Amino acid sequence: MQDSIRVGIAGLGTVGSGVAKILLSNAHLINSRCNRKIELTAVSSRSKSKQRGFPLKKIHWEENLINLARRDDIDIFVELIGGEGNPAKEAIEVALNHGKHVVTANKALLAKHGHQLAKLAESKGLSLKFEAAVAGGIPAIKTLNESLAGNKINRLMGVMNGTCNYILTRMENANLSYEKVFKQAKDLGYVEADPTLDVGGIDAGHKLAILSSIAFGTEIDFDSVYLQGIESITIQDIYQAKELGYRIKLLGVSQKTDNGLEQRMQPCLVPANSAIGQLENAMNMVIYEGDNSGPITLSGAGAGEGPTASSVLSDIIDLARDNKVPTFGKPVTELVKAIPTSRPAPGAYYVRTKLKDSPGVLAKMATALGDHGISIDRMRQTQHEDVAAPVVIVTHKTLPETLSNALTAVAKTGVILEDPVVIRIEDIQ
Ligand code: HSE
Repeated sequence: MQDSIRVGIAGLGTVGSGVAKILLSNAHLINSRCNRKIELTAVSSRSKSKQRGFPLKKIHWEENLINLARRDDIDIFVELIGGEGNPAKEAIEVALNHGKHVVTANKALLAKHGHQLAKLAESKGLSLKFEAAVAGGIPAIKTLNESLAGNKINRLMGVMNGTCNYILTRMENANLSYEKVFKQAKDLGYVEADPTLDVGGIDAGHKLAILSSIAFGTEIDFDSVYLQGIESITIQDIYQAKELGYRIKLLGVSQKTDNGLEQRMQPCLVPANSAIGQLENAMNMVIYEGDNSGPITLSGAGAGEGPTASSVLSDIIDLARDNKVPTFGKPVTELVKAIPTSRPAPGAYYVRTKLKDSPGVLAKMATALGDHGISIDRMRQTQHEDVAAPVVIVTHKTLPETLSNALTAVAKTGVILEDPVVIRIEDIQ
């Protein structure tokens, strides 16, 4: 056996404690797989007295995570405290400057500072690893960075926020409003301390930006991710989508277009019988479309102690095995600046609105859409409400700005009683 490799964990919350427990309980199995002993030598967290389900006796306790990051008796610094800036960022920099590899689950930090931290790590011949930062227990990073390294990625997609998927599926399955299900999700402990990270699409957007960098060889560009949350999705739209054979998902899509890199995280209609359409509760799914591999679909738990700790462990084990890969798919100095597209690829759209219930209104709407070159694929009129005629339209592919201009033109005809709800329909199998 080689010399042991020594680990220090900063942050003993759910995930950090989970990693420590696995390192202790599966020590024999893991050590034999690495042909090397992995030792948990030191930890740092907020409260020493808290019960965590594993013995702390033989592990050094550091009050200060910066001191942990520079300890001589650790080779790998595992950052599990979270937060997009300091102290996590400073601790990682200190660890790298003291010759430690770094493992983190911190997507917010990576989305903002990942490029700079990767530069520092690679300049020192060290690794910065983050399997747990994207989609919990799913090997989303390893699959893209290693298994699919021989492919040009045409498109990547995913449901990467379990809380949103829980809310959307529960609304449909229990026939409940967004507000009611949001409260249930909060009571179940699914929602981040700052809920907008989840329901505003920010957390999932961070994950999409990380994957885009690896897939397309570009510097992480979170600021260019088009973000739209799920807060305004109504049970009405969920049911209308269902009637049309779709489900609504908070879907991330990233692809290279003729105009540049398109990255969007937004509620989309997807076919109900597609793999993503069938994804229930807090599960996550990523799909990579490689030019040689074809579509590769991975699904699993996107959060929670076991799944997330499993991903942290996979990074630690890689380091113990000396399995070195570039942080973001190629050496960081070779990554190019992302050129964000000014316009997303054309798509079909779901439009729901209420029209005045009088002769010729549907014709006016259809004419305005036609005048903008938008062709209607399907149209449904549901039960009239007093003087209002609720209408749902599915368009053929068009550009979002063209649709927006067309709907402005419809509004000018005076037939619209309610601002249209517009949701993109994503072209997936
Ligand atoms: N809050 C996230 C989710 C997990 O609901 O998927 C951590 O990113």
